[in-house]
Amino acid sequence: MKKCLTLLIAMLALAGTLAQAQIVKKEGAFRCGGWNDDFRQLRDLHWNMEELDMSLADCDSIRQNALHSRHRLKKIVFPDKLRIIGSQALFACDSIESLILPAGTERIESRAFGNCTGLKTLTVLAPTPPLLAEDAFSGVDVSKIRLVVPKGSKKAYKSAPNWDRFFKKPRTVAEQCPDEYAIIPVPNRIVYHSGKTLSTKSLGKIIAPASLVNEQERLKEVLGHRLGIKNFNKGKCPITLGIDNKIGGKEAYRLVIDEDGISITGADATGVFYGIMTLDQMLVPEQEGGRLAYLNAVTVEDSPRTGMRELMVDPCRIFIPFEDLKGMVVEMARYKMNALHLHLTDDQAWRIEIKKNPRLTELGSFRVGMDDMQMPIGGFYTQEQMKELVVFASQYHVEIIPEIEMPGHQVAAIHCYPELTCGAVQLPIRTTCGVSDNLLCPSNEFTYEFLENVFTELSSVFTSKYVHLGGDEAGNPPLECWSGCESCQALLKDIMSSPDTKPKPGSRNDNWRLQKYMFDRVIDFLHRKLDKTPMFWYETDFHEIQPGCIVFAWRHGLTATAIDAAIRCNAKIMLCPGEHCYLDYPAAKGDMPEVNWGMPVTSLAQTYRLDPAWGYGKDFEANNLFGVAGTLWSECINSTERLYYMAFPRALALSEAGWSRQENRDYQDFLKRLARISRDMHHRGICTANP
Ligand code: ACM
Ligand code: ZN
Repeated sequence: MKKCLTLLIAMLALAGTLAQAQIVKKEGAFRCGGWNDDFRQLRDLHWNMEELDMSLADCDSIRQNALHSRHRLKKIVFPDKLRIIGSQALFACDSIESLILPAGTERIESRAFGNCTGLKTLTVLAPTPPLLAEDAFSGVDVSKIRLVVPKGSKKAYKSAPNWDRFFKKPRTVAEQCPDEYAIIPVPNRIVYHSGKTLSTKSLGKIIAPASLVNEQERLKEVLGHRLGIKNFNKGKCPITLGIDNKIGGKEAYRLVIDEDGISITGADATGVFYGIMTLDQMLVPEQEGGRLAYLNAVTVEDSPRTGMRELMVDPCRIFIPFEDLKGMVVEMARYKMNALHLHLTDDQAWRIEIKKNPRLTELGSFRVGMDDMQMPIGGFYTQEQMKELVVFASQYHVEIIPEIEMPGHQVAAIHCYPELTCGAVQLPIRTTCGVSDNLLCPSNEFTYEFLENVFTELSSVFTSKYVHLGGDEAGNPPLECWSGCESCQALLKDIMSSPDTKPKPGSRNDNWRLQKYMFDRVIDFLHRKLDKTPMFWYETDFHEIQPGCIVFAWRHGLTATAIDAAIRCNAKIMLCPGEHCYLDYPAAKGDMPEVNWGMPVTSLAQTYRLDPAWGYGKDFEANNLFGVAGTLWSECINSTERLYYMAFPRALALSEAGWSRQENRDYQDFLKRLARISRDMHHRGICTANP
């Protein structure tokens, strides 16, 4: 999936000439479109650019995403001939304080200046107000920006659509309740009690048992945010939280709204939390600053189709700041996703503190460069931070699943401890994408001491019973590293001499037995000593899935093979197929990431089309299906906003695939609900892909 580009060498040469520039003056004709267009270079290769002067550039539009989330950019001078500023062109360029839009500016598109929270002065030289998208400044309080317009134009701006907001203080507007609530993922059953309503002014009081103190806190957050309620002892119509395990299986809930109040009953605390998340979506207003005046009476009965709805993030390729992980937890929980999988180690970095092996973070957590982006990339999470994240996420009913790769994707660890690989070769940290042939050596006891210590230290940090062991892309061709290692081949001979060894016709060679030996040992340790359930990415070289393990179907085109293996081995399987779930792939042709090593377009519709049963029927669903997962591999994702851009809204389509019953799902209906929900995301400053 992460095959390297043949283009890479050319890209690196290009990057050498462009990186390090602090101030860029761009003149002349602009190349626009394709992976190496001028905007992509300005945005991604000039990683430390603070000033950009395009006044003499022969370019009349700043294309969509042109300078997306360039936090260092302080000053930009637009081309004199500028007409159009595209969607999200300067999203989250939050160090810019002042902007001047040239006289010919005609159009400013959706979220062009979204989250530009540093902006203080906006000067528009156009005498006629340019067309301004309603959400061009999403996530920004425009009433705090000083708008300067040409003499004699102020009146026109004051009455022009969306410019008027620059002249008013934000107000709270009372809104009608929509006829149908927009809830994602779609619940099992919604019954509207026609004609009955509940005034939101009568809300405030919460009645709940002590065991639901956390859920009470979450409810207070919702009521504070959506309705501005501060006093939770007042209000004549209470919101009652309770547990009743007769209403359904794990995570099930019932939400009832009538004229006298709201009751949320969960089969467990998670069910109560999901009832609160549904209520939160019911309270989503149409407009920024809107507040629903009443709620239509309704009964919702809901429970998940699959037990785990996961997102995987990759802080190795490009580090994700600790606090941003918390943001992702809060956002995914809104859509009833319940696992954040942290890919903590890879060829390009080791990102988790291991007290007994300090070199892993001292030497393995910093490098310069990710392919053609020659920027310094460093950072790791301390064990204390991860403990804090686990507790924080549990408040949102999200569990944190750590991944430590084996036997491949471990070049950063080998860089720190060369004895981990065959022949103890010295390796630099990898600075490009792709697959390394260097693997952990299965015949060296040091490998097991190392892994057992890492898993032991992490077992008290991550309380989830799951731990992911990687297992993917162990060289190209796979497992060849071990063919030239004397001690590995001696171990293999030993394994083959066992009377239990069965021939495996059609195998490239027998190295897969060494992988099995390694996984058997580590899995046994995790089961017996740490009481953990191992997970791994399924590859055909596994041949078998050990009892009590969970595999991930991920390779495009091999989903059915992985499912067949899971059924044959009576194992659980996570559906994360490249056909639908690789959220790091572009969602539309030419969209970010423009650099592409053959990643197929995976549109919102394509993600939505995922049927987690994959046509295998009820028995598979009941016995083997574990959940759904989306990946966010980060070779090309160089800011948190871009991580969100890739994740959303496709993660909402994935959450509906994982939660909602197939018979309740309809893509057109999903899009209708998504329109309201994604507008709310934009108002809250959450970055999502362009429609
Ligand atoms: C993977 O995409 N290498 C699991
Ligand atoms: Zn070896």
